Amino acid sequence: MNNLITLNNGVTIPSVGFGVFQSAPAETAAAVETALKAGYRHIDTAAGYGNEREVGDGIRRSGIDPAEVVIETKVWVSDYGFDETLHAFDKSATKLGVSRIDVLILHQPMPQHFARTVQAYHALERLLEDGQVGAIGVSNFMPHHLAALREQTQIVPAINQVELHPYFTQTAVQKADAELGIVTQAWSPIGGITFYPGWGENRKSVMDDETIAGIAAGHGKTPAQVMLRWHLQQGRSVIPKSTNPERIAQNIDLFDFELTTAELTAIDRLDRGVRGGPDPDEVDPSTWNVEIPEAETPTSTTKGS
Ligand code: A2P
Repeated sequence: MNNLITLNNGVTIPSVGFGVFQSAPAETAAAVETALKAGYRHIDTAAGYGNEREVGDGIRRSGIDPAEVVIETKVWVSDYGFDETLHAFDKSATKLGVSRIDVLILHQPMPQHFARTVQAYHALERLLEDGQVGAIGVSNFMPHHLAALREQTQIVPAINQVELHPYFTQTAVQKADAELGIVTQAWSPIGGITFYPGWGENRKSVMDDETIAGIAAGHGKTPAQVMLRWHLQQGRSVIPKSTNPERIAQNIDLFDFELTTAELTAIDRLDRGVRGGPDPDEVDPSTWNVEIPEAETPTSTTKGS
């Protein structure tokens, strides 16, 4: 079971999607297949994750009609620019094995090259107008990036996907999104970024937080489920990542309990105001030196017109 969230252009997506950030290509197809069989109908990937092809494979392997699955992917910054982003759509669609992408978003603002970011967004607007994508949006946009984008573009993003978990609640971003009618979508919704190996020292894992553990014990749920329920009750879309079948199932089993207002507030108060991921103002094409390969071998079309 899953609730639906209606985007600002009327398109609906399940509130709980499945994330594949840092899922190795070899594991991704199996994880996606498991997730779809467990009831997920929304997969979030990115050209920059290098596993779009395996996401497509997992969908096909599940036997579930691809038309029932919301596929979301992201254009990487090295593909920004109008023509470059149109081509990025082709690369992603081919790797995923679809002719239409449900949700296509810009992976990051590129503040040092904002004109190219705007051109990339203009390409998303064109793809939306042409019916090649169902909804468009952004990721890691702070309020000042959203304001700058809005000044130069027509279509309000449907989604802004940002780092958001109990230790980094991004209230200013949430407010800016809400004012514009943008759905805030949480990446690292259970705080994976606070415990991923190799992503910074001296971090405290939100998964070990005592307040969350206490709330979880009171409901007979896990800390991950409490965090995900907190997002859902506050209207956010979530895309928890796991490659473990038990945890994949657990992360969508969220609809038989409800947090009280006091519990939601207690979780809100855990915010430390410190991000775990990169500062969006500092990302440019050299940050990870990632180039998105061409999709040399087209796969057969399985979705869309
Ligand atoms: P694994 O893939 O081994 O399950 P986030 O989506 O917030 O970035 O979190 C992802 C991280 O959280 C991954 O390391 C994932 O590991 C782990 N994880 C996913 N679901 C759960 C869960 N229900 N309980 C504990 N850890 C989880």
